[in-house]
Amino acid sequence: METLRIALLGAGTVGAGFVKLLDEQRSRFRAFGLEPALTGILVRDPHKPRPGWVPQGLLTTDVERVLGEADVVVELMGGTGKAGRLVLDALGEGLPVITANKALLAERWDELRPHATEGLLFYEASVMAGTPVVEPLSGALRGNRTLELHGILNGSTNYVIGRMEDSLGFAEALAEAQAKGFVEEDPFLDVGGIDAAHKLAVLARLAVDPDFSWEAVREHTRGIQDLSREQIFEAEAEGKRIRLVASLYPNGGRWKAAVRPVKLPADHPLARFGHARNALLYRGDAVGEVLISGGGAGSAVTASAVVGDLLRMLEGYPGHPPLPEAAPVPDYEPETFEEA
Ligand code: NAP
Ligand code: HSE
Repeated sequence: METLRIALLGAGTVGAGFVKLLDEQRSRFRAFGLEPALTGILVRDPHKPRPGWVPQGLLTTDVERVLGEADVVVELMGGTGKAGRLVLDALGEGLPVITANKALLAERWDELRPHATEGLLFYEASVMAGTPVVEPLSGALRGNRTLELHGILNGSTNYVIGRMEDSLGFAEALAEAQAKGFVEEDPFLDVGGIDAAHKLAVLARLAVDPDFSWEAVREHTRGIQDLSREQIFEAEAEGKRIRLVASLYPNGGRWKAAVRPVKLPADHPLARFGHARNALLYRGDAVGEVLISGGGAGSAVTASAVVGDLLRMLEGYPGHPPLPEAAPVPDYEPETFEEA
């Protein structure tokens, strides 16, 4: 057996879930003649209490110790600054990187894109956690011209809205989502719609335009921070449900990306999913309508995609490449939504 040396950046909700799942799936790695081993785990505070399965002796603030001897880097620390520097340094040295960090992918894409094109960057976990959408959009669905896509891409806000439907207040519902590990370190990223916008930018580059700019998504983003229980109950009385929907669709000869709370008929495919579940409704010219749904946040559900990416890499597949060039904007009438 040879050793697969994994540098792990972060041991929070997802990082700790990854350590556990990696151990549980050890036999999958042995099938490749490899024994996975963590070189170290980069954290801010090695003395913070963590689940018992996270090896205390590997926790460190020493970047060199973690990255010095690695074969692959798993980035689960979040943020665009330090995480960005470490990821770009590793990619620059030719190391493959697996990341769940959609903020980094969305906002520093210009620097990351050449490495993604080269096949060094794996990021299934960044959108809809363990529910596969990055891989289908970088593979099986490429046989289509994308017509439009709409998704519930943020688990926290879906959970909060669902709990408000159960009569909880906004703050109480958000605190529950935080306790479950769904919410970003800065909760405004979730409630302000920014996290869904980050994910939409990632999908847009896979589906329609490798240069889709983060700013173009950000400028049409509105979150749920002003949503009241009264609005939710009024919608229910009309047979509708409010959901934070991220959309990419043709508009006036260009692609438009938008994130906003909308009122959906209760039987709409995107209205069916509560709690932290996510869903993507994709329409392509050949395949027609595809609906992908599943868990969109949380420790194990996200770690599942990270371990999956590692195994995919060992099978010899490249990471997730963006679309090679921008797709022509179709002459197509997209679905319309009523903003809440
Ligand atoms: P988290 O619980 O806040 O964990 C972040 C980890 O990174 C912590 O261990 C933290 O160290 C470490 N870290 C953060 N900044 C650091 C720095 N400057 N230097 C060294 N270590 C640092 O976050 P998470 O929920 O696991 O999320 C991690 C990433 O996955 C983020 O990009 C997030 O957007 C993404 N993601 C999360 C979910 C989810 O459901 N939570 C799902 C999909 C994707 P300490 O523990 O010492 O503070
Ligand atoms: N904060 C994110 C969410 C985590 O709630 O969807 C998963 O990306």
